[in-house]
Amino acid sequence: MKQIAVIYHSAHGHTEHIARQVAAGAASEQLAGVRLLKAEEVATHPEELADFDGLILGSPTYLGGVSGVFKSFMDKTGGLWRRQQLRGKLAAGFTVSSLPSGDKQSTLLSMLVFCMQHGMLWVGNPYLPGPVAGGEAAINRLGSWTGLMAQAGHNAPADAFPDGDRESGWLFGRHFARTLARLGAETAEPTGVAA
Ligand SMILES: Cc1cc2nc3c(=O)[nH]c(=O)nc-3n(C[C@H](O)[C@H](O)[C@H](O)COP(=O)(O)O)c2cc1C
Repeated sequence: MKQIAVIYHSAHGHTEHIARQVAAGAASEQLAGVRLLKAEEVATHPEELADFDGLILGSPTYLGGVSGVFKSFMDKTGGLWRRQQLRGKLAAGFTVSSLPSGDKQSTLLSMLVFCMQHGMLWVGNPYLPGPVAGGEAAINRLGSWTGLMAQAGHNAPADAFPDGDRESGWLFGRHFARTLARLGAETAEPTGVAA
């Protein structure tokens, strides 16, 4: 069975709440094994990522980018990059912040660039906003196709998301697992070692 890791940082629980929705969606059809991993723990032994077929990255948006903890995790993957051990794996990203925009797009783009540097294959968020675009119950209400965006108010409880954001997380995870299942090949062999 293929394996998916949902790797996230969450200082106050909001990103963790969405990570759990994503993981539940990814596991919903038993197409892959799914593990939830904290970025700060993966940073201590990043080589374990080579064992997964798909990585879903999740970070709060801090000042228009990933959090420092998440960036530290990213930077710990330099050895994996040199050995190209993540090449060919599936990847996707999600972010949570307190403002409707809050510059979440640039957080997703930094995750995308990270995954491209590793030679991974990026999966977006293919859902049209609906049934009422912009309404709290709408899926993809924030209109993001690069990856998943969710929003919880500043100082709100960790689970204080509109239902649409929760459902969007679940659908995003399911879409990722379905996409991974459609890819026949196992993880690609490393193709080279950078100097
Ligand atoms: C240092 C810092 C920077 C932040 N920068 C932004 C930002 O650029 N845009 C935004 O909308 N929210 C911003 N926020 C709010 C967080 O993204 C928001 O509270 C998020 O839900 C935190 O996720 P967590 O509960 O998983 O830690 C910032 C919060 C902190 C602490």
